[in-house]
Amino acid sequence: MKKVEMLYEGKAKKVYTTEDPDVLIVDYKDDATAFDGQKKGTIVGKGAINNRMTNHIFKLFEKDGIPTHYIEELSDRETAVKKVEIIPLEVIIRNITAGSFAKKMGVEEGIVLKRPTLEFSYKNDDLHDPFINRYYALALDLATEEEIDTIEKYAFQVNEIMKKYFDSLGIDLVDFKIEFGRYKGQVILADEVSPDTCRLWDKETHEKLDKDRFRRDMGNVEDAYNEVFRRLGIEDRK
Ligand code: TMP
Repeated sequence: MKKVEMLYEGKAKKVYTTEDPDVLIVDYKDDATAFDGQKKGTIVGKGAINNRMTNHIFKLFEKDGIPTHYIEELSDRETAVKKVEIIPLEVIIRNITAGSFAKKMGVEEGIVLKRPTLEFSYKNDDLHDPFINRYYALALDLATEEEIDTIEKYAFQVNEIMKKYFDSLGIDLVDFKIEFGRYKGQVILADEVSPDTCRLWDKETHEKLDKDRFRRDMGNVEDAYNEVFRRLGIEDRK
């Protein structure tokens, strides 16, 4: 599978067309941004870690019947994926209070929630990804009711799979963001699952092993990404 031309360059990935109109190649960068791109930096090795971690986890989802865009890992940083039409909703699931939830709700970080929450942000950089609910999404025709039902069902299933899996690696899954796309009439999981898009805390020490180290200038950012990758036990590519 070969890249034909660059279709799009995002903050963390480049996306290329291929000879197959249904297939794209994503190429993960080491670039990191936060706060709507206001803060910029590099996390050395992040592209390869996020690519390989996403593929590893998407394969777990597929095994449990959750469809994803994953086709084939082509290199450390490149993966062939199904070309979806992204549904412009960021889907955020939380198990433990942190980040914008803690701030908005006036609670400390680190409280285990009585049950997981789900929220949507409208994927729109000009508007800074505002909070949006099901009724807004339907009224603005961003997705159908059936699609939103499917998204919510998959999102909670993905949470259960990941919570259990990260727990076995000595990590608490605090919260995460996922995105879905439309592919041949189906809703499937797209984008990535990585320390960029999840909050991952060591179960014992509560050390942050995710992008908050970059967002909050905590140092040892690369070490955190490498530690998560090491615990995943993904074998070297041949
Ligand atoms: P938040 O607490 O800042 O709302 O973030 C919730 C989760 O979503 C957290 O795991 C980080 C992830 N996230 C993204 O993946 N992209 C984003 O642009 C933001 C703001 C958060």
